[in-house]
Amino acid sequence: MDAEHDSEEADVLEVLGAHGFLSTPKSCELNLEISERTRDEAMRFENRITRMLGVEYPILEAPMGWIARSQLASAVSNAGGMGIIETSSGELDAIRVEIRKMRALTEKPFGVNIAQAFVRDPDIVKFVIDQGVRFVTTSAGDPQRYCAALKEAGLTVFHVVPSLKAAMRAVDCGVDGLVVEGGEGGGFKNPREVATMVLLPLVCEKTGVPVVAAGGMVDGKTMAAAFALGAEGIQMGTRMVSSAESPVHDNWKQAILKAQETDTVFLNRFGPGPALRALRTEKTTRFEKEPPENVMGEFRHALDLYFGGDMEASIALSGQVAGRIDAIKPVAQIFREIIAQFEETIASMGRKYATS
Ligand SMILES: Cc1cc2nc3c(=O)[nH]c(=O)nc-3n(C[C@H](O)[C@H](O)[C@H](O)COP(=O)(O)O)c2cc1C
Repeated sequence: MDAEHDSEEADVLEVLGAHGFLSTPKSCELNLEISERTRDEAMRFENRITRMLGVEYPILEAPMGWIARSQLASAVSNAGGMGIIETSSGELDAIRVEIRKMRALTEKPFGVNIAQAFVRDPDIVKFVIDQGVRFVTTSAGDPQRYCAALKEAGLTVFHVVPSLKAAMRAVDCGVDGLVVEGGEGGGFKNPREVATMVLLPLVCEKTGVPVVAAGGMVDGKTMAAAFALGAEGIQMGTRMVSSAESPVHDNWKQAILKAQETDTVFLNRFGPGPALRALRTEKTTRFEKEPPENVMGEFRHALDLYFGGDMEASIALSGQVAGRIDAIKPVAQIFREIIAQFEETIASMGRKYATS
């Protein structure tokens, strides 16, 4: 690999790992007339993302270590979106079982994520191909590493990007599409984070591939805003963590409901290891001022937080959009409300601003 590629790889490897442009009071709820419409009456989507992925709605569940497993992913697929199974936990034997469960829980498409920085098994590509899935997102690394092999096996590949430079590189590598992730999103992040409001239109204007917007996506208004900026799909992380089917402990869900928009921290901008966005707790507020030597070490006790509910045991990766989430709802209801509100938002803007 040449020096230019070396430095590009370093840049992309920095990229571990997307907006809250339309603010609404936390207590604002959709009116019932909209939210209770049946799926048969709901708006139909037809764009490059729905065609490529074979889904009814261009809405992806974010891949999240230990969380994006069959219970949540099947709820997303059954609601008409793209359920994604994680591999960032590194527990490939468990993932194999989860994928088998998916086949029993849904007949709809689902995909797998390869978070490259967390890959321990050198045969991860073979593992994913062997599972028979048709869609994969790659993240947290150089897209060149796995793209060709995955595409040769016939999979559709989207790469997650936090900058225009990373997006151009992914397109050069031949990806089918991009997940454009702004710095307000939860999870591991590029230390030089850029908000979805800036990054999304930039990438959409400079690349011709289909784009899924991530970071701050939570409702029909944010989805409509993302589409206005050029996206053809959305991916939700924090909203899915707080859904009824999410397997995490209720303490984490309640902490998301209580959080204000200012209640996340951006940690470890200067390394070592990845930068990240997480919920504000006593521990993470302390880390803002006094960064730990090794932030990744904190994830040794992740499961005590994720499933034991001890919010100080580790770090609760979550996005700023926690400040807009005020109820735990089933995924199917979240989807119905998003689609209805998307439709209402674009129609009302047309009525309000159309000149003729
Ligand atoms: C708990 C948690 C774990 C995550 N783990 C992963 C992961 O394993 N792979 C990945 O590509 N992104 C991961 N992310 C980032 C999400 O995929 C998604 O892009 C991000 O959450 C979007 O922002 P939002 O939280 O505002 O919806 C994670 C996010 C959260 C909140």
